[in-house]
Amino acid sequence: MPLSRLATHRHTAFVIVERVSIARIGVLTGGGDAPGLNAVIRAVVKAAYNSGIEVLGLEDSFDGLIEPDRSRILTPRDVTGILRLGGTILGTTNRGNPFAYPVETSEGTRDYSDRVVEMFRKMGLDALVVIGGDGTLAIAHQFYKRGIPVVGVPKTIDNDIVGTTNCFGFDTAVAFATDAIDRLHTTAEAHRRILVVEVMGRYAGWIALYSGVAGGADAILIPEIPFDPVIVAERLRERDKWGARFSIVVVAEGAFPKGGKLALLEEAHDGFVERLGGVGAKICERLAKLTGKETRSVVLGHLQRGGAPTSFDRVLATRFGGKAVELVKRREFGTMVAFAPPDIIARPLEEVVGKTKTVPPDSDLLVTAKALGVTFGD
Ligand code: F6P
Repeated sequence: MPLSRLATHRHTAFVIVERVSIARIGVLTGGGDAPGLNAVIRAVVKAAYNSGIEVLGLEDSFDGLIEPDRSRILTPRDVTGILRLGGTILGTTNRGNPFAYPVETSEGTRDYSDRVVEMFRKMGLDALVVIGGDGTLAIAHQFYKRGIPVVGVPKTIDNDIVGTTNCFGFDTAVAFATDAIDRLHTTAEAHRRILVVEVMGRYAGWIALYSGVAGGADAILIPEIPFDPVIVAERLRERDKWGARFSIVVVAEGAFPKGGKLALLEEAHDGFVERLGGVGAKICERLAKLTGKETRSVVLGHLQRGGAPTSFDRVLATRFGGKAVELVKRREFGTMVAFAPPDIIARPLEEVVGKTKTVPPDSDLLVTAKALGVTFGD
């Protein structure tokens, strides 16, 4: 059973266990940032405040539960004006799993997870709202099993968390990538070139698929469908035949050629996950040889994570934050808020962690794109 302050009263033959009401909760943001994190924090703080609950903002993910001076009380005054801001006022880190290694603290080297549980008690917290991606939510789930009452909020531009149709941040990333593709269209057309755009997404092709379709790409390469560069080149050459002598190729950072490997910028090491990147430049070079055309590539990188969230992401993030406080008040711990259109619901963390939501082969958007002549290199 999760830690919650229990009061016991002895009445003759009975022991009545009465749960003390939620008075103080912690909120933290973990993993890579995504537009909308501040909108969630704002919603949590305002909804909690209006229910008489104090919110402690924990800095830099679970680090805020290691050192006493890495947290601060958040009131509505502290979150006024942050709805539209990218990043996170609490800071974040995507350093590896705190259960996997000990860390240096002001009191010497300690097991990170023990320290977190201990600090949670010392800080007088009744619950924890954890805003994060698959890695952070998996850590939150482990802490829930260690007795911390947790509610998770799914965040990632990659949109790869199972159990929720959308994560906030995804719409903003797609909007940015679409705008970039629009800009590349005009220069590609002017020079009759092939322009390759590499987008993020880790092992899922959601950003590539959505921005590729929205931007009218001619080829979309995603991790779910290993591609053949020869097939891609053939399709692009066909465009020359009917007079469209330029092409746009959108490639997800996790896409790889048939029989080939993922392109990595850095191998996993010391609690850090592997860093994907470089496939765009590789396919660009290959397409230049296969088509004989001038090709250029561009990597959108962290631009996709920065800037103001779209109105869709602001609304989704606000709904997630409000629902998280509702779940805390109802003591529905070990859960994650999720978007199941048109509703925001709760799902057990147990069902969502350790999995990746990838683009299904029968996705209607994928099927429609193929029907329109977009090649996926298969
Ligand atoms: O998960 C979000 C994401 O932006 C991925 O799309 C990308 O692979 C990764 O984070 C990059 O993380 P960072 O550069 O912050 O380590």
